[in-house]
Amino acid sequence: MGIVNQDNITDVVIQSLGRNGDVTDRQREIMTSLIKHIHSFVKEVKLQHHEFLEACAYLVRAGKLSSDNRQEFILLADILGIEVLVDMMTNPVEGNASESTVLGPFYRENPPVLPKGASIIKKHFDNEETAYYEGYIRDAAGKGIAGVTIDVWEDAPNGIYENLDPDQPDYNLRGRFETDETGHYAFVGVRPVPYPIPEDETAGELLRFMGHHPNRPGHMHFIISKDGYRPLISQIYDADSKWLDDDSVFAVKESLIGKFKPAQPEHGTDLHFEFDFALKSEAELASVAAE
Ligand code: BEZ
Ligand code: FE
Repeated sequence: MGIVNQDNITDVVIQSLGRNGDVTDRQREIMTSLIKHIHSFVKEVKLQHHEFLEACAYLVRAGKLSSDNRQEFILLADILGIEVLVDMMTNPVEGNASESTVLGPFYRENPPVLPKGASIIKKHFDNEETAYYEGYIRDAAGKGIAGVTIDVWEDAPNGIYENLDPDQPDYNLRGRFETDETGHYAFVGVRPVPYPIPEDETAGELLRFMGHHPNRPGHMHFIISKDGYRPLISQIYDADSKWLDDDSVFAVKESLIGKFKPAQPEHGTDLHFEFDFALKSEAELASVAAE
């Protein structure tokens, strides 16, 4: 081991891995790279001790803020572009499968299970524009997949998700739907409005430290899943929304942008939004991995 100095400290710490307990190959790979990159960052910016203490206090504040309702570390990772990068590496674009994007911190488990075509609106706002959302969930060959579970969630016309707004009913603008035998889904929601990600506390401190605004373009979140297919976590974006090319969490993908059109009388809403998704089957994934 020996005595450390600025030149050998990185190697000494890396060599200590597994000294007093087992580490897997993956743990060794992750920790070796983490130690190398963090040490080189500390050296490159010549991190001073008071800055190190400020960073530790910052992480303590972020931890104290975190709860089931506020995923502060996901938020910080999003502001740094980490979640979108991890997602792009975990779910690379393959064939005609739809693109994924970040989950974000506002998903809630077990949304209300609703029949096809039902509304997720539990409270009305003066400025709302209602929309009929529909489309097909298809396989790689373009055939509709029956019995796909679709969780959706969006912000209210005041720009706030229900779990952060005491004036909205529980699970407002959240729902779980299933495709019919042709792979078709449909539900009624509102046109999502652009909103600022939480900018109080530590997320706001990071945004200001980086000189960034907090805004996201209007979007609807989806989690699309069925046994035998890779689950798809994604969002669809309003082509006419502000901030499409300047998203505070870097999550917009060209292929996920769609257009709200005026609704027809049978929709019973102000607007109509059609969007199809394609899923990759586990069998196709296994054959790609085997090549
Ligand atoms: C969201 O779209 O809900 C979101 C994503 C990343 C950070 C904050 C919010
Ligand atoms: Fe969102």
